[in-house]
Amino acid sequence: MKDKVNNFKTYLFWFANDHVDFRLSEIESIIDILKTCIKWVEKPSKKPYSIVDLPSDTIAREIAHRSVTLKHISELWVSSAEKEDLHSKLKEYSDKVLKNLINLRKASFKFNIEVFCNTQNYSEKIKKIESFNYLPFEGPVKLDNPDITLQYFEYYGVDPNNIPKKPYYLFFGKLIANSQRKIIHNLSLKKRTFIGNTSMDAELSLVMANHAKVCKGDVIYDPFVGSGSLLIAAAYFGGYVFGIDIDYQMIHGKTKPTRKQNRHIARKDENVLANMKQYGLEDQYIDILVGDSSLPLWRSDFKLDAIITDPPYGIREATERIGSNHIHKNNSQNENKETKFPSKVIYTFHQILYDLLYFSALHLKLGGRLVTWIPIYIHYNEHNYLPEHACFSLISNCEQILSRVVSRRLLTFEKIKEPSNEELKLCKIYNNNFREKYFNYKYNANISSSGEYQNSDSFPIEKNNL
Ligand SMILES: C[S@@+](CC[C@H](N)C(=O)[O-])C[C@H]1O[C@@H](n2cnc3c(N)ncnc32)[C@H](O)[C@@H]1O
Repeated sequence: MKDKVNNFKTYLFWFANDHVDFRLSEIESIIDILKTCIKWVEKPSKKPYSIVDLPSDTIAREIAHRSVTLKHISELWVSSAEKEDLHSKLKEYSDKVLKNLINLRKASFKFNIEVFCNTQNYSEKIKKIESFNYLPFEGPVKLDNPDITLQYFEYYGVDPNNIPKKPYYLFFGKLIANSQRKIIHNLSLKKRTFIGNTSMDAELSLVMANHAKVCKGDVIYDPFVGSGSLLIAAAYFGGYVFGIDIDYQMIHGKTKPTRKQNRHIARKDENVLANMKQYGLEDQYIDILVGDSSLPLWRSDFKLDAIITDPPYGIREATERIGSNHIHKNNSQNENKETKFPSKVIYTFHQILYDLLYFSALHLKLGGRLVTWIPIYIHYNEHNYLPEHACFSLISNCEQILSRVVSRRLLTFEKIKEPSNEELKLCKIYNNNFREKYFNYKYNANISSSGEYQNSDSFPIEKNNL
């Protein structure tokens, strides 16, 4: 291993400018999938880049091939905070390394000049390209699919209201691989046959599948499947997918049509299987069942590789389960009457989380992952009150801000032990009363001009050990 580490090369990871909080955990999950090791020189942060030592170009390509938070990976030749220093380092690198690589020198090439958090016009771009004319490249310039893309980046910080006169940092290297961001476009909800009002967008669905470490042949389950967006991403990475939803109308495409402009009732082909066919993923599709996830119907020895889900928060969709609040009086008057059960009762979010962790502890393989969202009120430090279970370790906790006061967190748990009967129930869930807060907040909350709550005691956090 020591020798291997010595052969590592340094790479520049350049990220897309969204879902900043999800970068590190996505890359670390991919590293786990590839069963390789890396050395962070600079970990992902708010900056658009990170620097990593990797064992080979092949590993770099494989990481790029799985990631959607990345834009591309380059072999980093030189970097500096000063332009002159960057050029003198690059000249030295050219004399020592590039001049000896005859094939590289003869190859076709192009330059990619990027500035982050600033702009450049065409003539500035050309000037920058010309400033590298000491490099020993003799091959033809080829803008379309060249053998080598030389990458030059200027980083001007992340605050567009405070752009410095000169860049904070400069990087030069060679492109190794572009990421999989084109799939986001291919799987976009805009062009999907069947969507619902809570369909997860393609990018986050793919990020979730990466967090879940979905691999070819894995069996993946979504207990709150809705329009099946999470299953599409999991199937794309080779998982065999199935799910359950309590909403018969939704599953059978009998709800309002997917798109507003379609005034007729939903078409017959508006369902999850139609989506799978649209993307050529029908071979990965097991089935979708109408059912209640609080009443699992699986054999106890049935094992899953991952559970990926977005449970209902009770805001845009009902949180319900099969049950009855009715108290049956067992007297003679009622004996001959047909019993009528109200079909559904409220299924609170903390009950959902408890059932989800209980179910996952029972049915996930050891090392399998549960990837799920929880809604959070930003001003209550509720990120300190995350669910815990004796059989799971929390791998990551990534925030997506939804508004000034509400965010949701993507929690990734890994099963670390098979549960005993007692351990199955060893679960701590904090009832943050999200639904109540959301609706009370909308009508009652008093927000100062800075966006802070003024009545910050009005929703105390209750601790519930279910
Ligand atoms: C947030 S949506 C899921 C959206 C889905 N990820 C998608 O991309 O379309 C939550 C889903 O949970 C379903 N649901 C609510 N209670 C349920 C229960 N007890 N069992 C199964 N599904 C339930 C709702 O019908 C809804 O479709």
